[in-house]
Amino acid sequence: MKKMGANELREAYLSFFESKDHLRLESFPLVPKNDKSLLLINAGMAPLKPYFTGLQEPPRKRITTCQKCIRTGDIENVGKTSRHGTFFEMLGNFSFGDYFKEEIIPWAWEFITQTLDIPKDKLYVTIYLEDDEAFDIWTSKTDVDPSRIFRLGKDDNFWEIGVGPCGPCTEIHFDRGNGEKVNTVEEFLAAADDDRIVEFWNLVFTQFDKDEEGNYNKLANPNIDTGMGLERIATIMQGVNNIFEIDTVRSILNKVCEVTNSKYDEDKNKDTSIRIITDHVKSVTMLISDGVLPSNEGRGYVLRRLLRRAARHGRLLGAKDIFLIDIVDTVIENYGPAYPQLVEKKDYIKKIILLEEQRFNETIDSGMEILKSYIDEMEAKNEKTLLGEKAFKLYDTFGFPLELTLEILEEKNLLVDLEGFNKAMEHQRVSAREARGESTYMGSDEKPINKIDASIETEFNGYKTLELEAKAVVLADDSEFRNSILAGEKGYLVTELTPFYAEMGGQVGDKGSIFNDKFTGIVYDTKKNVGGKTIHYIKVNEGELSLNDKLTLKVDARRRNDICKNHTATHMLHEALRETLGEHVSQSGSYVDSERLRFDFTHFQGLTKEEIEKVEAIVNEKIMEVFEVNTNLMTIEEAKESGAMALFDDKYGNEVRVVSIGQFSKELCGGTHVRNSGEIGLFKILSEAGVAAGVRRIEALTGFNALKFVEDKNNLLRETASILKCNEKDITAKISTLSHELKEKEKEVQELKAKLASGAEEDILKAVKDINGVSVIAYGLSEVDGNALRDLADKIRNKISLGVVVLGSTHGDKVNFVAMATKNSIEKGIHCGKIIKEVATVAGGGGGGRPDMAQAGGKDPAKLTEAIDKVYQVVENLVK
Ligand code: ALA
Repeated sequence: MKKMGANELREAYLSFFESKDHLRLESFPLVPKNDKSLLLINAGMAPLKPYFTGLQEPPRKRITTCQKCIRTGDIENVGKTSRHGTFFEMLGNFSFGDYFKEEIIPWAWEFITQTLDIPKDKLYVTIYLEDDEAFDIWTSKTDVDPSRIFRLGKDDNFWEIGVGPCGPCTEIHFDRGNGEKVNTVEEFLAAADDDRIVEFWNLVFTQFDKDEEGNYNKLANPNIDTGMGLERIATIMQGVNNIFEIDTVRSILNKVCEVTNSKYDEDKNKDTSIRIITDHVKSVTMLISDGVLPSNEGRGYVLRRLLRRAARHGRLLGAKDIFLIDIVDTVIENYGPAYPQLVEKKDYIKKIILLEEQRFNETIDSGMEILKSYIDEMEAKNEKTLLGEKAFKLYDTFGFPLELTLEILEEKNLLVDLEGFNKAMEHQRVSAREARGESTYMGSDEKPINKIDASIETEFNGYKTLELEAKAVVLADDSEFRNSILAGEKGYLVTELTPFYAEMGGQVGDKGSIFNDKFTGIVYDTKKNVGGKTIHYIKVNEGELSLNDKLTLKVDARRRNDICKNHTATHMLHEALRETLGEHVSQSGSYVDSERLRFDFTHFQGLTKEEIEKVEAIVNEKIMEVFEVNTNLMTIEEAKESGAMALFDDKYGNEVRVVSIGQFSKELCGGTHVRNSGEIGLFKILSEAGVAAGVRRIEALTGFNALKFVEDKNNLLRETASILKCNEKDITAKISTLSHELKEKEKEVQELKAKLASGAEEDILKAVKDINGVSVIAYGLSEVDGNALRDLADKIRNKISLGVVVLGSTHGDKVNFVAMATKNSIEKGIHCGKIIKEVATVAGGGGGGRPDMAQAGGKDPAKLTEAIDKVYQVVENLVK
């Protein structure tokens, strides 16, 4: 048996199956495409589902991959045992209606006994109970000892996850024991339970497609789906007993020990933390390289949980500061050879991890303290369960994923009231689920339009032409296939040739018209179905569209042109951003329609005004250099060599389309573009903002929309100038003069008001009434502010020998009152506080104060006179 490194093993497997005429594909990204049933790819076959069900034609009938997978079902166990991990690689070979049991069984045997040279007396085989065919092939086409084959039931030897392609399987097992043979099923199962015998390769005979109702529908062609865990086979080949000991993983583990200054294999708790960090940093690196960003939703949450759990275990080991990014280098050293995008994206990956770790570090200490106080409280009161709201507070305010809180409490044998937590969370969850639009059946839904035969071609001819004739080969509505669509009805139309672009790569679908001499209608959207076929979303306006009719399809040309301008400008913006900000800028999303374009890219801080201006200027300059826009078809290698930019999370076929704009930009793209950059006319940036940690978004306009934007601004200036009665160029000077003048005037007004108020003294004094020997003055003014009112009241009081003065004044939408009394009036029963309270109530206010002085406000200036009139009556009651 040869000792082989994990990278060597991966290569051995893939080239073995290449020698059996398989097409080697790169691992698909961890983020599933067109499959809403799955958060993350969890098996080699997962990204290939449409090939199994026949919805899509595979590039070859034999494919082999090493697929990145993440499974978080067992995440609590990761670290505690040395067997569990969240990230793993699945080696697989697949047949789509090509070879079957007869071929795969002997090939598998050849690979493990010859290529890997595993001794036959270390191997066992299991098959599905009733599968005599498999037994016959194993015994006639290989030299496996028949007494080493055991039959097991559906739990062990029938492979399915949820709904979708599934079938009976045969598994190959390795015996780590001392050579003593097991002879019965019972002995075999006991040894497997003991981890003495381990399964390492699952060969699935995919014959069924299990539906929602649990029916096993026979697939038209039987397929093969095999899966061998790379880590698992590596432990066998390297003679180690767990995944943390294989070469690649062990070097990450060593790095974890180094940066956290800890020793492995000395302390059980420390080992757990070391293994958690080792596994999680690997998963986090892979997730980010496939475009996932930390968030509180879906995949982003998986990433956040893993990262924060690792960060917390670092603390347990005594790490004080940022430490995760140092480990990332080691992950990339080990996995870079198989996944080159890790190397390309290294700086980006590290930056995202750094930002998230910093963010968590800011709150982790205070969060830990709060949690510790909760724990102390619970222990004091002898309670076992933490209130859900408290766990939510930790989640919401301190960024503690629930699972982290659970884990920390579990270490103390405590629980969380999950129902309470979920209640607190409900609101966010519901809206998130709606936004995700979850569905069940393998991510597609059961609409007929998703079940179109894979043999139907829907060729896009719309790069060259916007109008052509074609035959209606499929008609459908939401529930069934149709022979015709009638006037007033909506439906779906498929043609073998179309000028309509189906929504893809951020570019919206085309709209337009359809007609022949029997009907007219519109195409209100164009999208691809789950099998990648172009579907026209139509409405028939007049007449009737029947199956097999010839019809004309005509794209709305003006709208398409606007879309093309925005799409080409998006490429130019991408290049201009790289020139201005640096090579780390890469596209993380885009949206292009006829109105505007939106471009998301990796960058770590907001752009300055100068940077935005520079980017805009570069794009406009290149527009005016009237560059030809050319598209060329080439192989992916040729494209890479030519320096074309490609999105790292995209999967391309053998032949790719490269769009170049002069020498300025070169990018892989399937979208539609202008023929010359000059057609864009003008480019204007509308806004720049952050959308997630390390991701910025620019929104911009082109062509007539940009022109209209500039015109609107121009009109605004013209109107402003005409209102200001000045030249446009003098607007700013004029506004600052005016605002200065306004301030001066305000000051003057205040002074005049004060003067006016003091001039009112005489009138006020005339309002005096004698009530039981007390002089009572009540008077209402307008627009005197509180201070001036108080000064005035003070002056009036000084002019009376025994009495009280109450003044009120409107001030904007409020009203103020002041009451002041001479000292000697208090013995007579005067109390300013009481008076003002009743008076202010009339004007919708309140207040109070001392016997000799009080103030109040009110909200109803219209009631001022009524309030002031009330003064005499109130005083009468007091001095009775
Ligand atoms: N799809 C099979 C598995 O995941 C091979 O085990």
